[in-house]
Amino acid sequence: MISLNIEKTLGFISKENVFAYEAQVKAAQEALENGTGKGNDFLGWLHLPSSITKEHLADLKATAQTLRNNCEVVVVAGIGGSYLGARAVIEALSNSFTWLQDKKTAPVILYAGHNIGEDYLYELTEYLKDKKFGVINISKSGTTTETALAFRLLKKQCEDQRGKDMAKKVIVAITDAQKGAARVTADNEGYKSFIIPDNVGGRFSVLTPVGLLPIAIAGFDIEKLVAGAVAMEKACGKDVPFAENPAAIYAATRNELYKNGKKIEILVNYNPKLHYVSEWWKQLYGESEGKENKGIFPAAVDFSTDLHSMGQWIQEGERTIYETVISVEKTQHSLQVPSDEANLDGLNFLAGKHVDEVNKMAELGTQLAHVDGGVPNMRIVIPALNEESIGGLLYFFEIACGISGYILGVNPFNQPGVEAYKKNMFALLNKPGYEEESKAIQARL
Ligand code: PA5
Repeated sequence: MISLNIEKTLGFISKENVFAYEAQVKAAQEALENGTGKGNDFLGWLHLPSSITKEHLADLKATAQTLRNNCEVVVVAGIGGSYLGARAVIEALSNSFTWLQDKKTAPVILYAGHNIGEDYLYELTEYLKDKKFGVINISKSGTTTETALAFRLLKKQCEDQRGKDMAKKVIVAITDAQKGAARVTADNEGYKSFIIPDNVGGRFSVLTPVGLLPIAIAGFDIEKLVAGAVAMEKACGKDVPFAENPAAIYAATRNELYKNGKKIEILVNYNPKLHYVSEWWKQLYGESEGKENKGIFPAAVDFSTDLHSMGQWIQEGERTIYETVISVEKTQHSLQVPSDEANLDGLNFLAGKHVDEVNKMAELGTQLAHVDGGVPNMRIVIPALNEESIGGLLYFFEIACGISGYILGVNPFNQPGVEAYKKNMFALLNKPGYEEESKAIQARL
């Protein structure tokens, strides 16, 4: 189970003021439960963990097994909410180096459809040339350009390389039940497909097949992941008293910090495997709260790596930031610092200590230095990098995001701002149907 500590924000804001949010948090939770708040047609994530059935997990695991049996590499094609959750979990749980080793126990998971890089796609298709690969085409709308473009390339290559029959076996679609090109293609080709529920938005979809299928293919236990989320659904439920509900406290604290001029939240980790959890979190909070000219800017750093780059800014730059640290209590492996006779690096004082003891002192020392430098600090502790903890952490951030967005007064479940670039891009590319926009944009150039 995760725990949250806000003690090191209290020199900057008062506990009293944080607890003054209790009524607002309660109202936000009631609105979520009763579906009476903004964006109430997108609340399918709220009780998603506890509503996932054994049959659904078995179906996902069977499909995962088919791809595991037939693929050395599986490419996850998706962008934003249709890829970040899977990547966050897979990278958090994976050994950092097995994908480089010859002997593998699971297919290598690669990603596409999350950029429009010609070199990236060229290099990916080259790499796949002698590989038995499969593709998961993930798109709720089924029409996202980045994903559709990558899938067009990958589908053709898979069919050419592996034959139409095998391609049918190793291409899976995760999309809307009825609409969109991804649905039509899946039905026409006879691909196995999974549905993204209408009432679950992309950034809240990690516990749907969008996240669960790639995670299962990578060899991780989706039952435990869901169990971790179910435990957190209980721990953050609307009847849990404010003081005992970590999501309530997190939502209240960040809103109080924002009110006091702390406009940027930096999510900090001390474990490089959490890099993509931060990427997922950035999308969750950025897309949910950044609207109506409001919203905390979600940023992220990997420490201690970034202490050697962003550390200076955080210590002494403009005082508009606060930090939320994700601390992992226990490592998966044990490694001690060896003693060295010559001791030329002067590190013998660490001999016999675990590497993580050094990391934890870096964490504590940094927290104290940053607080001294004017940066409020929250700390989320998870027991270990395992399925239960990560499942719990993801749900914690989702429910806190819903509460926090309602406190801020925005609709946390839409993303109208994402359309602006698409309209311009289509106009510039002369997409049929965009004739007027094309003329208007050409006149501006
Ligand atoms: O959270 C969101 O809604 C977005 O990030 C979408 O997930 C992203 O744009 C991909 O959309 P789609 O799944 O329709 O391809």
